[in-house]
Amino acid sequence: MELTLREITPADQNAVAKLIRAAFASPPTNENWTEEHAREMLLEWMHFAGFLGYVALEGPTIVGVLIGRLERWEAKRFFHLKELCVWPERQHTGIGSALLGHLERQLQQRNVAKLYVQTTRESTAHGFYRSCGFVTTEQLIVLSKPIPPGKNSSNGAVTNGTANGFATPLPAATARS
Ligand SMILES: CC(C)(COP(=O)(O)OP(=O)(O)OC[C@H]1O[C@@H](n2cnc3c(N)ncnc32)[C@H](O)[C@@H]1OP(=O)(O)O)[C@@H](O)C(=O)NCCC(=O)NCCS
Repeated sequence: MELTLREITPADQNAVAKLIRAAFASPPTNENWTEEHAREMLLEWMHFAGFLGYVALEGPTIVGVLIGRLERWEAKRFFHLKELCVWPERQHTGIGSALLGHLERQLQQRNVAKLYVQTTRESTAHGFYRSCGFVTTEQLIVLSKPIPPGKNSSNGAVTNGTANGFATPLPAATARS
């Protein structure tokens, strides 16, 4: 079936939430996304300045999604690729590389200097990204620090105009970040 690529819209949120849940539930990621949490993460990212996102469709069905944001770095701009995933039954049929190719053409038009992504070493995505021309950045490391739960801790959702004082939501750290 013919593949079409277009910009993501808020109306895609339910279909994309289902896709994220399904794509990351299998080994080796085994992540426990609910559709509600996937939708929340997606909407957080869609509110960021510099957000770009695309969906891949076969007929009316969304089979792949890519989201991320443009970031200023000195005189240049980089693109932080946050999530790329394909419906499990449609993986290894060229959809991921079609979405990535589409993104790269958009970034070229916007004079973006570099595209980066974080993923786990053992993930299947590691091989995919290498085959698409990504290289491991040896001089960078990712550090993380667990925050113990506070007395009145909530589920961590941060929405517009809440206690953090920011107009837009803060990014959620993930197990892959
Ligand atoms: C990773 C993912 C996005 C790749 O998308 P895809 O549509 O399955 O990949 P493509 O069919 O476009 O593959 C393109 C090329 O990448 C390489 N590739 C794909 N999957 C690979 C894997 N698991 N290991 C090594 N190379 C791989 C192959 O060279 C492939 O070309 P070929 O089919 O001619 O051999 C998809 O498999 C996915 O959604 N995985 C689960 C979610 C995930 O891990 N996302 C990334 C998190 S950052």
